[in-house]
Amino acid sequence: MEFRRFHYDVVDSTSERAFESLAAGQAHHGDVHVAREQTAGRGRLGRRWHSAPGTGLYTSLVLVLPPPPPTGATLTIAVGLAAWDAVRALGIAAARLKWPNDVVVDGAKVCGVLVESRGLDLQHPQFVVGIGLNVAQHEFPAELLAERPVTSLALLGHAATLDEALEALLSALARRLEPLPGDLDVLARDFLEATGLRGASVRVVAEDAAHFGRLIELSIERGLVLLGPSGARQVFVLEHVRELTPITPEPMR
Ligand code: BTN
Repeated sequence: MEFRRFHYDVVDSTSERAFESLAAGQAHHGDVHVAREQTAGRGRLGRRWHSAPGTGLYTSLVLVLPPPPPTGATLTIAVGLAAWDAVRALGIAAARLKWPNDVVVDGAKVCGVLVESRGLDLQHPQFVVGIGLNVAQHEFPAELLAERPVTSLALLGHAATLDEALEALLSALARRLEPLPGDLDVLARDFLEATGLRGASVRVVAEDAAHFGRLIELSIERGLVLLGPSGARQVFVLEHVRELTPITPEPMR
């Protein structure tokens, strides 16, 4: 994957810059938009992404793919794995993926991914992959901490420059996205390893209902399989899964 890098000082959102260049017909597969600061950084589910100047990596990658497009789950998982690979390459061996693609360390979020498409054309699939990686923050605003635990490479004792973090992320993205759709079984196996949830007791929220059981299989095509307390299996299409969390402490077996 050839990367063309576009660096900005302040932007609203690097993903907006990427969509703007797509709309203008100027975007190439592999374009990377990086800003030192975002004034309207977006997170998943309509949240905002805290984007203080010079402390986080705020970057968006343009994907222009051959048809047919990968499924939403394939792309979400592949990009999440790339973020996980990058965080580990930057020294955080304890990093885990939290459904669908947050990178967390001991429950605190260090990296978030937002995959977007606008008016997806099945003959000319285009996506913008936005990634926010907390690198050098030593503190976060109280309102953010009130929502969820967050951390940074610096707080975890792993100093890295924003350039080092960007290069780690881009090489991980190239490795995970180059073979897309690639071997879906490898993707699912790596994803399960990254979550650390193989065989664990979990809570799954799918289509607004919560389900409990042991996670015995995850397949991109077949979905997520839970073994319930009565021995019955439940299968969930990945696109329907909104939450996948371990139940702690594990109930008595
Ligand atoms: C999440 O909610 O976990 C996803 C966060 C994605 C944030 C990144 S920062 C770079 C890119 N530009 C944005 O506006 N959002 C993404």
